[in-house]
Amino acid sequence: MTTTTPAPALRDLDNSAQVLERAKTENLISPRFYTTDYAAMDRIDVGSLRAEWDAMLAEYEGDNNHDHFKRDDSFAAEIRELPPELRKEFLDFLVTSITSEFSGCVLYNEIRKRVDNPDIKQLMTYLTRDESRHANFINQSLKDYGLAVDLQALKASKAYTYFKPKYIFYATYLSEKIGYARYITIYRQLERHPELRFHPIFRWFERWCNDEFRHGESFALIMRAHPELLRGANLLWVRFFLLAVYATMFVRDHTRPALHRAMGLEPDEFDYRVFDITTEISKQVFPVSLDTDAPAFRAGLDRLVQARVAFDAGAARGGLAGRWQQARAALRGAATFVRLYLHPVRRHDLPAQIRVAPSW
Ligand SMILES: [Fe+2]
Ligand SMILES: [Fe+2]
Repeated sequence: MTTTTPAPALRDLDNSAQVLERAKTENLISPRFYTTDYAAMDRIDVGSLRAEWDAMLAEYEGDNNHDHFKRDDSFAAEIRELPPELRKEFLDFLVTSITSEFSGCVLYNEIRKRVDNPDIKQLMTYLTRDESRHANFINQSLKDYGLAVDLQALKASKAYTYFKPKYIFYATYLSEKIGYARYITIYRQLERHPELRFHPIFRWFERWCNDEFRHGESFALIMRAHPELLRGANLLWVRFFLLAVYATMFVRDHTRPALHRAMGLEPDEFDYRVFDITTEISKQVFPVSLDTDAPAFRAGLDRLVQARVAFDAGAARGGLAGRWQQARAALRGAATFVRLYLHPVRRHDLPAQIRVAPSW
């Protein structure tokens, strides 16, 4: 995970070709596309949790969001001109969101096509359905700005990262749950302050994030059906993915201050609220969690942001001096990440009742 072509500056998003470039960008904080070991996926056995599994598949089958991802009559009327800084960050938010929605869609669809295991195949069919709805709904909003992402071109040209199935489970579980926590936090804030809702898409977030929540539940059941994934040396991987997902979000959000401020949410306040929700949910499956309240941990996250800012400044500066600045910033960022990784974690027992309700 070390490719570091600098992201095109956000203000460059003037046409769809630039948007495709932005979506294809590979750096430490950009959403990735994944491939995995499909034969190993085929061997997943959820038999020990049959009742919970079937109940969950029945929820997917019920498809309570089948009519949700359509615009209503007032959608167009609510779109307004945004101040330049906010417009830039909002468009970047849409592009990273569609890239991660579509990344899920491509991965789940590929697993669906390549496995025979009926449980996994059926789950992946539902997940693909949901993520493709999400990606297409965001694309409609990008179209309003003349900036739709060519999803087929993105699929064909984006770099793919290989992950073993267990890494896919840790990473996708977390990204689904943190996705839920982000969307519900934004939704609740704008429910309290409708005057801050600067775009109609946020009205869709409540039912939308329940899809993400359920996707996370599926990976929770898969991991609990394979308890060896949640103990021993594998906990070192769990800690790694927790930190990677939290740190990525923290750095990315702190490079978009105007977006959060427009919604009345300081990036710190928003991110720590999202961490609290995600940590609470993740106790269903991970016996360790990050101590995001510890002052030393928070100071480490702040240093990661500073390293990222210095890295980007080096890229903008260019030349030998710029590259030197980038190298120093990358080293500082890596050292900070290691110290955060070594920070003591909280430990807890796994609950007998696995499923959690989306009650935030
Ligand atoms: Fe989604
Ligand atoms: Fe999802």
